[in-house]
Amino acid sequence: MLYQRLVLTLWLAIICCVGGWQDLGSVSRIQPYGRPFKLNSLRDSLPNTRPRARRESSRRRPRGKYEYNLKRTAIRDAKNRNALCLDGSEAVFYLSRNPDSKHWIVQLQAGGSCGTYDSCLDRSKGSFGSSRNYSDFMTGTFVASDDPGENPMFSSWNKVFVPYCSGDVFVGRRGKNKNGHGMNMFGHFIVKSVFLQLIEDYRINKSNTKILFGGASSGGLGMLANIDFIQELVKPAEIRGYNDGGWFTLYPNFGETANAGPPYFFKVLSFMFHTLWGGFVDESCRANMPKAEACLYGELVFKYLSAPVYVFVAQWDSYQLQELVHSQFPTMRLPPELPSEAEYLGKFGKNTHRSLRRVINSQKDGVFSPACFMHAFSGENLTNAHRTLACEISGKTPYKALSEWFISNGTRGTYVEEPLDKPECNPSCCSKLCLKCRKPKPTVEYDEPTEVIIESGAVRWQQTTLITWVLAFVVYSFVHWKDVVLL
Ligand SMILES: *[C@@H]1O[C@H](CO)[C@@H](O)[C@H](O)[C@H]1NC(C)=O
Ligand SMILES: *[C@@H]1O[C@H](CO)[C@@H](O)[C@H](O)[C@H]1NC(C)=O
Ligand SMILES: *[C@@H]1O[C@H](CO)[C@@H](O)[C@H](O)[C@H]1NC(C)=O
Ligand SMILES: *[C@@H]1O[C@H](CO)[C@@H](O)[C@H](O)[C@H]1NC(C)=O
Repeated sequence: MLYQRLVLTLWLAIICCVGGWQDLGSVSRIQPYGRPFKLNSLRDSLPNTRPRARRESSRRRPRGKYEYNLKRTAIRDAKNRNALCLDGSEAVFYLSRNPDSKHWIVQLQAGGSCGTYDSCLDRSKGSFGSSRNYSDFMTGTFVASDDPGENPMFSSWNKVFVPYCSGDVFVGRRGKNKNGHGMNMFGHFIVKSVFLQLIEDYRINKSNTKILFGGASSGGLGMLANIDFIQELVKPAEIRGYNDGGWFTLYPNFGETANAGPPYFFKVLSFMFHTLWGGFVDESCRANMPKAEACLYGELVFKYLSAPVYVFVAQWDSYQLQELVHSQFPTMRLPPELPSEAEYLGKFGKNTHRSLRRVINSQKDGVFSPACFMHAFSGENLTNAHRTLACEISGKTPYKALSEWFISNGTRGTYVEEPLDKPECNPSCCSKLCLKCRKPKPTVEYDEPTEVIIESGAVRWQQTTLITWVLAFVVYSFVHWKDVVLL
């Protein structure tokens, strides 16, 4: 009896140890790749949308046919129109003019925001707070590109790029005498002045004119706040918006308790909105919302917008997850290492999906939302823009989905992936931030050995589970060895 019992237990223990040995080997090998991964701050990761000097680059290589297509243009009467940057310099815009086209792209630059005196002062000394060093020309990307290869749908349109020098997600209306920091936060007036000038100079307020107005991140927030206001200015022209990654959701951060009042970021936003910006938001939303700053949230402002909009938002907005509240709460470890982290991310993804319900059901609006860890698709980073823009749902890239939405007047072009319980990524955007890919092999080839990392993360997860089960079985069989033998 005892002999049988010992043999059985020993046998099971051997199986477990062999498995465990192999596990330990592979775990120690993959460990370095599984370390917490910190994103660059948004502000530093947007070199492609920063105006670049023509001469700087032409020294190195000849100017490409579609490079530096946008020319710096002064805003007339900028002082009287309050079109000023943080440091008081006059805001400008960049223009690529095609007199043969009646249609216009107006793109707002991305680049975070500033909320403390020091950070705003710091910002006012660089290109995100001052126009003093702006170059004469810059290259448009995404819908502002002149290259028909990159931008088949809109390359022939007139294009305007509005640099972001007010630190206020393009909603501010408060001058240096009124806001607590002694710096101008006039983003709303900058946007308004640009459109007024386009109306005066190019008569864009005509019925056969189409305007696509939007931007990434803070540019997307600026679009949501201003689009219906701008529609009034430019009517009878037809304006539509796009928002690339400027879609934050009201969701508690990891480590923040649910049902403990508004999420931390909402409180930060309230402070900036009222104390610094004297912010402008969509007027019909404002009239219905107890707190004006709530109208900066896509899910809340959406039903009040009359202009059609297109939204790009990853199921896991990496900026919201890792950057917004990092000083107050533990940031997410990506890829998640604990079941509680994976569970949190699963719920976060479901919440993103929930926040899009109205957009998905709308006949005039559209949305592209893959199961990815990502912030903006078009403007996150020049080095990885080819990667973020190559992300696909049902064979559609963000650009193709937007074009389809545009050309079908909103009836097509919506691509949304269903959220799962765990953060498992779309294979076309799988990165080291993901727990694993939804299909065994990513379809996109990356420069870095990301596939290895993804696979090992998943394998480690499964192996840990396996060991736990085998151990449980060993203990069980030792105690209830008779039942096991009978089985
Ligand atoms: C852009 O992304 C790549 C890859 O993620 C990273 O190595 C690089 O540092 C980033 N560049 C900037 C300027 O943030
Ligand atoms: C402009 O460039 C000069 C020289 O590179 C630099 O010292 C200065 O800080 C820059 N100012 C702004 C506002 O970007
Ligand atoms: C366009 O704007 C100009 C200047 O404000 C105005 O004179 C003109 O009547 C407008 N055109 C239309 C069609 O509304
Ligand atoms: C979209 O609307 C325009 C008028 O604004 C119309 O000319 C065009 O045929 C429509 N396209 C589709 C696909 O419905």
